[in-house]
Amino acid sequence: MSAVLKSATGITVKPLHPLFVAEVTGVDLTVPVSRDDFRVIWDAFNQYEVLVVRDQKFEDDTQIAFSRNFGPLETMEAHPANNFKPGHIAVMTNLDAQGNLLPLDDPGMLHRLRNEHWHTDSSFKAIPSLCSMLSGRIVPPVGGNTDFVSARAAYAAFPDARKPALEGLVAVHRVAKPGEEDDPAYNEEQKKRLTVTHPLIRTNPVNGRKNFYAGAHAQAIVGMPREEARALIAEITAFCTQPQFFYSHPWRLHDLVIWDNRSVLHRATTFDKTKYRRKMHRTTVAGEAQESHFATMPQPQAA
Ligand code: OGA
Ligand code: MN
Repeated sequence: MSAVLKSATGITVKPLHPLFVAEVTGVDLTVPVSRDDFRVIWDAFNQYEVLVVRDQKFEDDTQIAFSRNFGPLETMEAHPANNFKPGHIAVMTNLDAQGNLLPLDDPGMLHRLRNEHWHTDSSFKAIPSLCSMLSGRIVPPVGGNTDFVSARAAYAAFPDARKPALEGLVAVHRVAKPGEEDDPAYNEEQKKRLTVTHPLIRTNPVNGRKNFYAGAHAQAIVGMPREEARALIAEITAFCTQPQFFYSHPWRLHDLVIWDNRSVLHRATTFDKTKYRRKMHRTTVAGEAQESHFATMPQPQAA
């Protein structure tokens, strides 16, 4: 993997892992970024898949404005953890609106536990997500890391002899709870709309690198017996989540972490939720079904 890069505009991109993940310094993303600065970020995002940017004091409006450089934002689905009031900001927290710790059996707390499974955001949407970014607004002193694995580095390391048989496969992704087919958290309209298919192997349109695309929402493979499909998805997940493809992000206040939902899996990790407070705000950028447009740098989206 390449060494530290210093751009003409003063941005530094420094790898944090041998295979993916870089830290970006020398830029304030809470104010409008120039096209030249965004070009550096866009290129680093496509190369490193996960970008860590420290000391970014975002409010929701500035986070939304920065996110729009990557393309149109998703509106979250209505579910118990957002009081069925979806918007452009998804709040990952163990606090109520007044900032008090929520009981562990609160419906929103239980709903958010599904984030602790390896997944990629919105793979259950017909137009899956390009990227998500999480802003650390309140971080616990210990625990509560977010873990990432590169399903691109994993694909590169996967036995070549097996790749042709996997190449044309299409996976079924469902919004349902990991490991289950039905999910009372979503209504019938959502469950129908949020059962979609995507290729099991995707290609980054900028650099042509391939990756596995599965995670907790991938629950079947078109034309393959159910048990065989589940075993294959489990095998691919186990392959991708090996230590050499793994990075765990320890949060500091005001960190922004941007990840490529096309090619990394991520999961929340636990912490003492009865003692510590954690509040992370996420924006999610919509991707494309066909991945043609993102071969070039996106145009910033109007508010
Ligand atoms: C997410 C997510 C992980 C975390 O925001 O999509 O999975 O550590 N979050 O909160
Ligand atoms: Mn997620």
